[in-house]
Amino acid sequence: MGFWILGMNTFFDLTGKVAFVTGGGQGIGEAICRRLAQAGAKVGVFDRNASAAQRVALDIGGHAVAGDVCSEADVETAVDDVCEQLGPIDILVNNAGITGKAGKLWELSKADWESVLDINVVGPVLCCKAVVNLMRERKYGRIVNIASIAGKEGNPTLGPYSASKAAVICFTKSLAKELVGNGDITVNAISPAVIATPILAGMPQSTVDYMISKIPMGRVGKPEEVAALVHFLASAEASFTTGQCYDISGGRATY
Ligand SMILES: NC(=O)c1ccc[n+]([C@@H]2O[C@H](COP(=O)([O-])OP(=O)(O)OC[C@H]3O[C@@H](n4cnc5c(N)ncnc54)[C@H](O)[C@@H]3O)[C@@H](O)[C@H]2O)c1
Repeated sequence: MGFWILGMNTFFDLTGKVAFVTGGGQGIGEAICRRLAQAGAKVGVFDRNASAAQRVALDIGGHAVAGDVCSEADVETAVDDVCEQLGPIDILVNNAGITGKAGKLWELSKADWESVLDINVVGPVLCCKAVVNLMRERKYGRIVNIASIAGKEGNPTLGPYSASKAAVICFTKSLAKELVGNGDITVNAISPAVIATPILAGMPQSTVDYMISKIPMGRVGKPEEVAALVHFLASAEASFTTGQCYDISGGRATY
């Protein structure tokens, strides 16, 4: 009682808000799209996999846009398209990311590093650049960047990935401070430990086992658990928190 009025959840309600979720076609991004849509948001589902984006968008009544987060042109076109179809973007979730090739430093090439840093770091930077002036004009915005526990701890054989996620955490803190004074705009990151999604299929089982062994709860997380935290940070109520990195690691993180 008190939580629901006429069947609508009045807490963390996103009715009237427009969200842009990168990598929304599967895994954590898909769960985020579904959760934000359930909360009332109109969701732009951006993914380089056009059919995956289309499938999710159709299911949630959102708008699919195909593109690569590393391409400034793709990102700008996608943002314009979503603004035109759904309205100005209130919520940006930078979720698209890859683990890249696993290996020790002496086993990885410059290209192995660059591909991960491009998608995981330059991608979120381009997406923020594409929406931030609109948010400044409207004096409202919520940006949530999906980092990783790897960005705090540094996982062996995942040097490029770990470094990229550390960069995401620090970029979050820098941008959050740059935006203070521009209205109610917050920028936060979250750092999941291992979550059950298709990204795990690309990792050696020994790496996955190592990651689970580090989690006090002794299990992998669910995409829906991550989506719930993103929902809170994307809501108007999360207005006095910016530049933070929220843990969602089953107790693994110690800071
Ligand atoms: N699954 C985990 O254990 C875990 C843990 C911590 C952090 N994360 C992070 O969460 C995010 C989502 O992970 P996931 O497990 O859902 O991954 P996933 O591989 O299941 O899905 C990623 C989605 O992003 C899309 N994508 C990838 N590169 C893209 C690009 N350049 N442009 C546009 N779209 C692109 C893919 O097509 C895919 O739909 C990633 O940033 C990942 O690093 C995942």
